[in-house]
Amino acid sequence: MARREMLLGLALLCLAASAHPAAGAGAGARKMVGVYELRKGDFSVKVTNFGARLMSVVFPDSEGNLADVVLGKDTIAEYVDDDFYFGPITGRIAQRVARGRFVLDGKVYHMYRNDGNNTIHGGGRGFSKTIWTVKEHVAGGESPHITLYYRSFDGEQGLPGNVDAYVTYRLSAPYTLGVHMNGTALDRATPVNFLLHVYWNLGGHGAGDVLGHTLRLFASRHAVLDEELLPSSGRVEPVAGTPLDFRAPAAIGARIRRVVGGRAVGYDANYIVDGGEGEMRPVARARDGASGRALELWANQPTMQLYTGNNFNRTRGKGGRVYERYAGFCLETMGYVDAVNHPEFPSQILRPGQVYHHDMVFKFSF
Ligand SMILES: *[C@@H]1O[C@H](CO)[C@@H](O)[C@H](O)[C@H]1NC(C)=O
Ligand SMILES: *[C@@H]1O[C@H](CO)[C@@H](O)[C@H](O)[C@H]1NC(C)=O
Ligand SMILES: *[C@@H]1O[C@H](CO)[C@@H](O)[C@H](O)[C@H]1NC(C)=O
Repeated sequence: MARREMLLGLALLCLAASAHPAAGAGAGARKMVGVYELRKGDFSVKVTNFGARLMSVVFPDSEGNLADVVLGKDTIAEYVDDDFYFGPITGRIAQRVARGRFVLDGKVYHMYRNDGNNTIHGGGRGFSKTIWTVKEHVAGGESPHITLYYRSFDGEQGLPGNVDAYVTYRLSAPYTLGVHMNGTALDRATPVNFLLHVYWNLGGHGAGDVLGHTLRLFASRHAVLDEELLPSSGRVEPVAGTPLDFRAPAAIGARIRRVVGGRAVGYDANYIVDGGEGEMRPVARARDGASGRALELWANQPTMQLYTGNNFNRTRGKGGRVYERYAGFCLETMGYVDAVNHPEFPSQILRPGQVYHHDMVFKFSF
């Protein structure tokens, strides 16, 4: 049965690959799905071009024990049905769009709705479910990296115009992972907002929950989200005096029972990152006291969604591990949620020829 499902999954991938052969490949060429490693000493990363996903990040703890700190799946076939967004780049519009609808230049656009009445992460077949072209892969040496490319086509999930999307994962320094995304509107005005949706557990994926991790966020305000996780009121409020306040380091679990993200207990909150918009600046620091592993995230984006895996429920993960609620946390830097429906938020509209840049740097330590 499992084998049959896997073959079916692979058949779907081939179909998906042949449906849009225009994306940079020569006539008749098939885009193959693969797994690509980047390595710098005992720091290593795996990426697949299916959804431009980060599949693993391995580094030691203070005693030299290696662990993979990224939640995910063992095989590409299992990512085909992944509803949790394990590790992908999401787009063309990451996060939610109310009613999957917006108006641009007087025209109404309807997106595929895949989250109740709303659209999430670009629709039913957003960037996370597409096959990207591997432009360059350098596995080792001074600056191991991989660059992936996807041509998002006019009408994709209801969105206007062609967009060229690139992501580069690069081990730019010891225990440092840079993620550089860009998008170019080629021929029509369109919204563009990408994010990287990785679940982290610094104790190692599958090593229980992350409630004991210490978190510090460089964010004094948040966009108020309603029960559908939409910023329907458009209000931005201080985190001071709320369980969302991580300006001073605190355990993720310290106040989590008092937080409702949508309809689930746990964090699914949208923070406005402090500091100059468009500049690289610190966003978050997290540390697992038990292993001593820590990460620091820098990015150039205005907001960050903190999500604590509130919906895991005996979810099958890598290596036979089972992920339960709070098994990982996501630090999703991006633009404002549902900016297409909120003129009070910074615009995400690109005019033809305009380029979007999203840079993230993760510094790991132990
Ligand atoms: C979707 O909208 C309809 C009509 O407003 C409403 O009845 C329904 O409950 C909504 N569904 C969800 C999942 O929110
Ligand atoms: C986008 O990134 C790719 C890969 O790093 C790079 O080759 C390309 O020049 C970038 N595009 C723009 C418009 O900056
Ligand atoms: C988890 O799944 C089980 C079985 O599908 C269900 O009975 C239970 O209510 C779920 N728990 C949560 C917290 O959603």
